[in-house]
Amino acid sequence: MLVIIVAWASIFITAALAPKKHLWSLTTTHSFLIAFLSLIWFFFQDFMFSDQFFIIDNISGPLTILTCWLFPLTMLASQSKLSLEPIKRQRMYIANSTFLQLTTLLAFSASDLMLFFIFFEASLIPTMIIITRWGAQERRLEAGMYLAFYTMLGAIPLMIWLIKLYTTHYSLSPGLMQIMSITQTNSNYPGLFWVMYNLAFLVKLPMYCLHLWLPKAHVEAPIAGSMVLAGTLLKLGGYGILRTSTLIQDNILNKTFPIMIIAIMGILATALLCLRQTDLKSLIAMSSVSHMNLVVTATLISSPWSYSGAMVMMIAHGLTSSALFCLANTSYERTNTRTMVILRGTTLIFPLAWLWWLIVAMFNIALPPSISFAGEFLIMISLFNWSPTAFLAVAMNLIFTTAYTLYVLWATQRGPIPNHIKSLYPFSIREHALLFLHILPAALLIAKPDLILF
Ligand SMILES: *[C@@H]1O[C@H](CO)[C@@H](O)[C@H](O)[C@H]1NC(C)=O
Repeated sequence: MLVIIVAWASIFITAALAPKKHLWSLTTTHSFLIAFLSLIWFFFQDFMFSDQFFIIDNISGPLTILTCWLFPLTMLASQSKLSLEPIKRQRMYIANSTFLQLTTLLAFSASDLMLFFIFFEASLIPTMIIITRWGAQERRLEAGMYLAFYTMLGAIPLMIWLIKLYTTHYSLSPGLMQIMSITQTNSNYPGLFWVMYNLAFLVKLPMYCLHLWLPKAHVEAPIAGSMVLAGTLLKLGGYGILRTSTLIQDNILNKTFPIMIIAIMGILATALLCLRQTDLKSLIAMSSVSHMNLVVTATLISSPWSYSGAMVMMIAHGLTSSALFCLANTSYERTNTRTMVILRGTTLIFPLAWLWWLIVAMFNIALPPSISFAGEFLIMISLFNWSPTAFLAVAMNLIFTTAYTLYVLWATQRGPIPNHIKSLYPFSIREHALLFLHILPAALLIAKPDLILF
């Protein structure tokens, strides 16, 4: 594990020393190499690795693999826009996004809860730097502010809880504590307690009502920032809930009923809101909120099936929403707008891109063979077990999701060709490769879903 981390850190050296002309090709190749080596290593461990500092098990394994996979893709995605900037800023950008990925990787694989917490919070710094320094518009400062304040306020109760746990039990390793079978229910309000210590994770996921930072951050962030935010940073929240859930033995569901209601409302409300968006990026951000609230409901139900549903959902969403952001970015780089109507009729100009849009949209709708379908299915079954009424409410979400995804497809792809579209430059191989590499793992997982089911 340490070897992997040192290997990742060596990207800093490449970023600092690579000659100007080959900066992007060298760093991209380097990151691809490292990503593949770490992937091989992770598969070799068979999700059963743990030592003093790191743990790769069923919960963290798939997410670390996702992080490794997305790392070279962010490099691939951001080169065309950034290579126009001064060389020093490019190097800074590469260093910062590597740092961001490294902190997320460490957060996913740290075995000690305090270490996890530190890296969880540390990922905020590079995210903030990337959004505020490389964002497109001046509202990026506001977005960074929102991000920082939401995340840090949520983190305070978690930190207090962790310190308290440590002073009473002298350990913060979840495995050990499970053996010691600590029940953390010496509180009169277990539901409120659950919400408080999970607040940091609920903000990160984000749960509806705590999600206001997300559309802002996504809209302002450069492409690598958006990809990492949607792909892995949101999953840190879900991972945190799954990881700490072993520390609470009893069933918290009936005590966290209000949270369940908020999450279900959130699923529906954000899916409906998507239908009213004109801005492509904020639509994708809203759809992330909708999907992540499904993960919140799944973690609240806390049955084995809903946990695997949450896990599958997170991986599937990480790949699809990152791919959607890449697609949105390809049109943004050509037209410099995120408004959907302006992109109408691009099918006739970029026929192959239409294929990518279609596949990714299918994954987003959770059409049967896709893994998002498996995740949604598991969550829906657990939900039905809990309450048929809640099931019916969430079933409406399927309709809304389909509706807004088709709306995106129609609004951005179909329709008459306006004149300004005709002069756009064609897709490069880099962009096709980028989208292909997003779709490939999602398609491969259909054939071998037991990698992420646990
Ligand atoms: C990130 O960028 C800032 C300024 O843009 C720079 O000062 C800092 O050193 C960078 N961080 C890393 C890890 O390279």
